[in-house]
Amino acid sequence: MRILVTGGAGYIGSHTVLLLLQEGHQVSVIDNFSNSSPESLRRVASLAGRSLDAYHIDLLDAESLAQAVGEIKPEAVIHFAGLKAVGESVAQPLKYYKNNVVGTLNLLEAMNKAECRTIVFSSSATVYGESTDLPLHENTLRNATNPYGRTKLHIEEMLEELAASDSRWHIANLRYFNPVGAHESGLIGEDPQGIPNNLMPFVAQVAIGKRAEVQVFGGDYLTADGTGVRDYIHVLDLATGHLAALDYLSNSQGVHVWNLGTGAGSSVLEVIDAFARISGRPVPYRITERRPGDVAESYAHPEKARLDLGWKAERGLEQMVADMWNWQSNNPDGFPEANHQLVNAKSLQDFIRGSSPTITE
Ligand code: NAD
Ligand code: UFG
Repeated sequence: MRILVTGGAGYIGSHTVLLLLQEGHQVSVIDNFSNSSPESLRRVASLAGRSLDAYHIDLLDAESLAQAVGEIKPEAVIHFAGLKAVGESVAQPLKYYKNNVVGTLNLLEAMNKAECRTIVFSSSATVYGESTDLPLHENTLRNATNPYGRTKLHIEEMLEELAASDSRWHIANLRYFNPVGAHESGLIGEDPQGIPNNLMPFVAQVAIGKRAEVQVFGGDYLTADGTGVRDYIHVLDLATGHLAALDYLSNSQGVHVWNLGTGAGSSVLEVIDAFARISGRPVPYRITERRPGDVAESYAHPEKARLDLGWKAERGLEQMVADMWNWQSNNPDGFPEANHQLVNAKSLQDFIRGSSPTITE
């Protein structure tokens, strides 16, 4: 299939693009590189041994977007592009509504014009808000508690209304739980800018010695060890979920919702312990106050995806941590920043097609 991937240079996008290329699909990526590096796409192309088309376009630039979508003529779109930092969304809500909601609106209009009406959307377990209806089912009441979460909720609703208005649309809302891990090559992975917001990348930076200790946000939850429990899912399992959803949509109209999680929860202390064990490095930690807005536990009821898609997560916490550590220890500073400048000097396409996985100035 000819597939357009928005946000394909990012963490989940890059792993999914790799899988799509390996499965023989023709892939075009649109990204503004606001939270990613073209280097990830170059490594993906090099790992797959196949090229892809990349467009440096912001979804907010409706005109360039429509032109590119018209040129690409995709049969389906996987839509990852979006901003995702909860704290930043509280400080700058308009930036989030504009980027995520308006960006998606522009994309849907461009798709409609190009006669492409199949989309897989990156939603999030964040749409369940502070629900205690565990495990979380697809029909658990939605109730997002911060602007980021509400952008996901508004987009889900917009997609539902679109499908109700026009039966030609094929839509999947995938609600991810907590994506972690990296490709086993150690060549692509999550590259957070500044201080990581999420637990696993923070723990990885403590293990590598970049940060002194992990602050454990709350030790008095009603969980087995008092710390928060989450459903961590390997990014490659998540990526295969997108391929399964695309397959399902090829002969199913309307809106479909699936949780992508493992169904099992791990506590903060279990994650820290697994990381210290597998990396062989000390991971000092200190229990501090709860983080506002956090829930005690969140884990998926993953059965609907298994029944409808024949998909289930295969990799456990040990594998997630081992792959995360492999990525972190091979790339202690993430993707090389120098390559951003090089891309401006060369064309994006030439850069991605370059054969060696790293460039020195
Ligand atoms: P990421 O930041 O690594 O990837 C997002 C990509 O989108 C980046 O490459 C960024 O440059 C690009 N982008 C952002 N705004 C854009 C715009 N206006 N135009 C063009 N490109 C733009 O994030 P990720 O972890 O890979 O997440 C992908 C998607 O999954 C996001 O929509 C996110 O909200 C959602 N999600 C992520 C998580 C998580 O914990 N990582 C959990 C649930 C849902
Ligand atoms: N935590 C710490 N210390 C840290 C960071 C996190 O103790 O430095 C704890 C949190 O309190 C929580 C757990 O680790 O108990 C996981 O926290 P994350 O920030 O890694 O993940 P969240 O579950 O809070 O949220 C993530 C994404 C959301 C997404 C959600 C569900 O940040 O965008 O998963 O997919 F919506």
